Amino acid sequence: MNELISRMTPSVTNMIRMDHTHVLTTFHQYHVDTAPRVKKGLADTVCVALEIHSQLEEEIFYPAMRAIADSDFMQKSVPEHDQVRRLITQLRSLRPEEAAFDEAFFQLMNAVMHHVADEETLLLPTAERVLADRLGELGAEMAKRRLQLTAARGGELAGSVARSMTAGGMVLGAGALLAAGYLFSHPRGAGRHTPRPDTVESH
Ligand SMILES: [Fe+2]
Ligand SMILES: [Fe+2]
Repeated sequence: MNELISRMTPSVTNMIRMDHTHVLTTFHQYHVDTAPRVKKGLADTVCVALEIHSQLEEEIFYPAMRAIADSDFMQKSVPEHDQVRRLITQLRSLRPEEAAFDEAFFQLMNAVMHHVADEETLLLPTAERVLADRLGELGAEMAKRRLQLTAARGGELAGSVARSMTAGGMVLGAGALLAAGYLFSHPRGAGRHTPRPDTVESH
């Protein structure tokens, strides 16, 4: 059974890359002239996605890497996540009508892009070398834990995903990823709280 799950889920490194892509897509939907309500929805969506992603890396991926290759990057990865968490706290304390909200959002985007670039150019290729035989198993573990974390935050998630909908009614980026995780973990109750599945488009 475990072997079957491992074969059905993406490797841990590809799963991390997908999360990064979804978060970056959400970042790029945000513009200074975006409506405040949509700005708030995008910010809330990206914050939850980053919190879940950081926790998954810290619980599952980083320990596996540290056991094999404790590099300089591994030393600074958790402090960089902590910096992202501080920026999230700052962003949540602001209102989307304020100019400071844009500044805080772009500061968060900057910190995340820097961290993601390091992970994608240094950490993930190293993992694919040194953890080659564990990538599927770690991916399955991460998928399972993701469902638990997404389910626990379903309420706040539904609101922010709905607010971050584009004019055409589509949910892109991290919102789509989170909504898909929530729908999967709440197959019966999902319709009451989340956008209809036909409005969720994954990129
Ligand atoms: Fe990270
Ligand atoms: Fe990451």
